[in-house]
Amino acid sequence: MASAPRPLVAGNWKMNGLGASAAELEKMIAEAGRFNGRADLTICPPATLLARFAGIAKGSPVAIGAQDCHAEASGAFTGDISAEMIADAGGSAVIVGHSERRSYHQESDANVKAKANAAARAKLVAILCVGETREEREADATLPRIERQLNGSLPDHFDARSLVIAYEPVWAIGTGLTPGPKDVAEVHGFIRDYLVARGKGTGEAVRILYGGSVKPSNAKELLSIANVNGALVGGASLKSDDFLGIAAACL
Ligand code: PGA
Repeated sequence: MASAPRPLVAGNWKMNGLGASAAELEKMIAEAGRFNGRADLTICPPATLLARFAGIAKGSPVAIGAQDCHAEASGAFTGDISAEMIADAGGSAVIVGHSERRSYHQESDANVKAKANAAARAKLVAILCVGETREEREADATLPRIERQLNGSLPDHFDARSLVIAYEPVWAIGTGLTPGPKDVAEVHGFIRDYLVARGKGTGEAVRILYGGSVKPSNAKELLSIANVNGALVGGASLKSDDFLGIAAACL
């Protein structure tokens, strides 16, 4: 078996953060050296802070990403930003298909796939989110749901440098709830098998993150599960101490 990919801990700031939050990023950067070569760190601030954060993080071990992109490179799409604009602002990654986008903005798997393809076109890493609702988990429909999302939203071409998958059970996001280790292992193993079957030799190395109520106190347990190659962190990524505490669980 190939060796496990280097972990990635990505912070999704959602609609949080003003100019003053740059101080948190600066604290993260000051500590990031100790993860060099052992774990990758990415922060995805709101679009208003993207260029500023990319400027601050330039040359540091912390990468900067966006939380969403439009599928087109440019055009009459008021309020949207394209993958090319994210790259131009200094971003190197973009989250696509987060469950909050899927539910509040009615994004379909086809929309998410178009966005993942746009990320590839702009040479951004796509952090593509999948996950079941509570109803689906209770109905034993988790794996079919994940499979449908992978079938419908993976980009046309991918490899370990262009794609990261984030498994985020919708019911675990922002709730303080997490699935048990066996459930996490089952879903991550399922996603790994899927990627290996479709990935033309690269599926072993694509990182699969767990997301949903990750915090410093549960990170070690979650990150030690087979095929968990890092975390996508919401609330706990806003404070440098919590974010770095989660990253430390990778070492
Ligand atoms: P949470 O969010 O860590 O606040 O649960 C995770 C996410 O939505 O990516």
